[in-house]
Amino acid sequence: MNIILIGAPGSGKGTQASLLAKEYSIEHISTGDLLRNEVQLGTEVGVLAKVVMDSGGLVGDDIILRMIKDKVLSDSCKGGFILDGFPRSLSQAEGLDKILIGVNRKINKVFNFVVEDEVIIKRIAGRYFCKKCGTVYNRYFNPSCRDGEYCKCGSLEFDSRSDDNEQTVKNRLLLFKEYSDPLVEYYKKKLLLVSVDALKNPSLIFEDIKLIITNLN
Ligand code: AP5
Repeated sequence: MNIILIGAPGSGKGTQASLLAKEYSIEHISTGDLLRNEVQLGTEVGVLAKVVMDSGGLVGDDIILRMIKDKVLSDSCKGGFILDGFPRSLSQAEGLDKILIGVNRKINKVFNFVVEDEVIIKRIAGRYFCKKCGTVYNRYFNPSCRDGEYCKCGSLEFDSRSDDNEQTVKNRLLLFKEYSDPLVEYYKKKLLLVSVDALKNPSLIFEDIKLIITNLN
């Protein structure tokens, strides 16, 4: 099973992708995480990407499609994958199709996370994560154990993303609005798109998605 999660920054794609990857034992591919890893390693791609990510812009298709191709064609994706944060534009969606056609694979469903801007801003402003295990929390909606004292893994150390500041979020939202309509139309025409009410509680969203996946089989 190969699925795509699309939606605005902070709409909850990463939260659901982690749950779904565990539930179905398939690979979770987040282009944001792949890029943050490059930044941390200080690679050439990481140096280029950091400037773009800190401004809230979109990293070039050449870099993104190369990363996706490597990942999707790797052994870890043989049993299926969830794409989180990719594709973000029509050109990326077309690039993905070319990669998949080449290996005789296809996308089974595209989940479009729908949520209002005010909620997005609060979700992003409240997001933080455990430095040890990476679990993502939210100070307003989903705090770590005992009100932000410690993570479920026992660690006391938390951090937040450098691009989760007000100005960057505004730019990320503007770009999302510019690119998302053609992307949604593209998958609608292919009869792959399902809208997800991303305002619900994460466990209810998870159940909604699982129900749709069950009906795929
Ligand atoms: P990326 O890391 O992909 O960021 P994003 O798309 O902006 O998405 P987020 O990770 O911010 O949000 P999310 O939808 O995963 O929400 P989450 O589950 O964490 O990309 C970062 C940057 O990398 C981009 O700006 C760009 O520069 C570059 N990049 C990445 N991919 C690219 C691509 N394909 N092309 C070009 N450039 C690319 O939830 C958010 C918060 O809300 C959390 O605190 C969570 O606990 C909470 N929450 C989640 N669900 C709920 C819920 N249902 N109710 C209440 N709270 C909730």
